[in-house]
Amino acid sequence: MATSAASSLPAFGTFDIRTQDCIDFLRGLPAESVDLIVTDPAYSGMNQHMRFGHGRIVGHYGKPDNERWFHEFSDDPESYALFLGECQRVLRRDRHIYIMFDSFSMLSLGALVRDFFDVKGVVVWDKVHLGMGHYFRRRHEQIVFASKGRRKLSRRDLPDVWAVPRIHRAVYPTQKPVKLFEFMVEASAEPGFLVCDPFCGSGSSGVAALLGGCDFIGADIDARAVEIAEQRLARFVATRQDPLEPVR
Ligand SMILES: C[S@@+](CC[C@H](N)C(=O)[O-])C[C@H]1O[C@@H](n2cnc3c(N)ncnc32)[C@H](O)[C@@H]1O
Repeated sequence: MATSAASSLPAFGTFDIRTQDCIDFLRGLPAESVDLIVTDPAYSGMNQHMRFGHGRIVGHYGKPDNERWFHEFSDDPESYALFLGECQRVLRRDRHIYIMFDSFSMLSLGALVRDFFDVKGVVVWDKVHLGMGHYFRRRHEQIVFASKGRRKLSRRDLPDVWAVPRIHRAVYPTQKPVKLFEFMVEASAEPGFLVCDPFCGSGSSGVAALLGGCDFIGADIDARAVEIAEQRLARFVATRQDPLEPVR
């Protein structure tokens, strides 16, 4: 009997995405139960900072009805420390964590990561194309890379600047390129690892986890995000095509 090309490829891992606040989600996971955390939190600091004149917000994540598209994580140092403490609890020993930061949050919250993890470095995501900004136009974000215990990178050929074009006309606001998370998974995971993202949005980190032969567990506070991510990953598993990033 003829086998199709898709069925001759190894099966993808599993995924589990929950509509939950990041802290509640992490508190529900057993200690030392995940192998890699990759996450891109929704910081409020930058938008507070960018409020102008009549309360207008630059980079507003608007919906047609003018509601905010998604909640921002209240990123005061106390909430952020709670979040990091839970990440530290659920991550197995000798494993890695990657946390994305815009430049504003990096200065206000980035140093806290040291209180919970062994910070190994900061990677710059070069978005290649210019974004907004009143002084120097923004073209980068930062990713803090840290460990719990000791672990080498599986890939030693990656620089600490990742030039990956930002996504234009993304289906989901702040949707990040899968390639970014693929670098993290390739450098820090093995097939069969459980990859966790407590702010998973449209599920880009989930696609990268599945591509790396890993299982994925994620959460987002917004039910619409969870629906998008679940549909995306289900489609990806069934067809090996990513409906939100068809061309990469
Ligand atoms: C920057 S976006 C993540 C985008 C994602 N990396 C992607 O590629 O689609 C941050 C996400 O955090 C979610 N979020 C905000 N507050 C949250 C909270 N307290 N707990 C969990 N998720 C939250 C937002 O709904 C949003 O989808």
